[in-house]
Amino acid sequence: MPDISIITSVREMREWTAAARAEGATISFVPTMGFLHEGHASLMREGRKRGDLLVLSIFVNPTQFGVGEDFESYPRNLSRDSEIARACGVDIIFAPDAREMYPAGFQTWVNVETVSLPLCGASRPGHFRGVTTVVAKLFNIVKPTFAFFGEKDFQQLTVIRRMVDDLNMEVEVVGLPTVREADGLAMSSRNSYLSAAERKSALCLSRALDAASTLYRSGVVSVARMREEVMGILGREPEARIDYVEFRDGENLEERELADDRTVLALAVRIGSTRLIDNVIVGRGITWKEKC
Ligand code: PAF
Repeated sequence: MPDISIITSVREMREWTAAARAEGATISFVPTMGFLHEGHASLMREGRKRGDLLVLSIFVNPTQFGVGEDFESYPRNLSRDSEIARACGVDIIFAPDAREMYPAGFQTWVNVETVSLPLCGASRPGHFRGVTTVVAKLFNIVKPTFAFFGEKDFQQLTVIRRMVDDLNMEVEVVGLPTVREADGLAMSSRNSYLSAAERKSALCLSRALDAASTLYRSGVVSVARMREEVMGILGREPEARIDYVEFRDGENLEERELADDRTVLALAVRIGSTRLIDNVIVGRGITWKEKC
């Protein structure tokens, strides 16, 4: 099989897209920061099914990292990513560098207001402004018909859907379920930071989500009761430091005191120095292989 083509310039990417669209092709697009895992693969496979052509972007976006965060150490491996992309049927990888995306003089930002504020927006000020700006730019460059995002970054998906609606962007945003390791850990490029012991400790996140959704599905709607359960599970894990445990409406992210089927429980927890996020729609629950 020939090597997959990698485009690094905005101009070339636009030319490729323009030619594809001129032929009437639909374009599926999976934006990523690379260091691909099975979660990304599920997005690429779905993209492959839905569109005539499949574009993957790999760009570790500096503007969504705060001071002191892991921009420099974020894992990168373009040759491994290319292999995974090829196996998933990607037609082209767009992998610009930071100067290409943010040339000198850059000063325009996309800011989605209310839904960007709580949860990760509160813990990581400016994070979603960086995400929405780069995603808007990528949409303008790639001009996709469909764009695929994982539900693991639940707030990100909500913020992007809001941006697309508010700015009348002509792209269909598709959210896909979180992919988990056999023992329940949500797939994330940042899992590579965890030591073996930390990785074990990190299972407290999926355990806590599962316990809360089990309570909900047994008839408990009190968020206070579910929170108590979650705090107990996370509190018993000595390595875990809670950033937030929040019950929010799954569409507008407003706080909830009584849960319903669309309530999302979102967690951000530090295990050692690694900050992990995970979530569950309490009415839907989660499963993983070793639990079944
Ligand atoms: O989810 C990610 O990997 C990033 O936030 C995204 C959407 C590619 C924007 O940089």
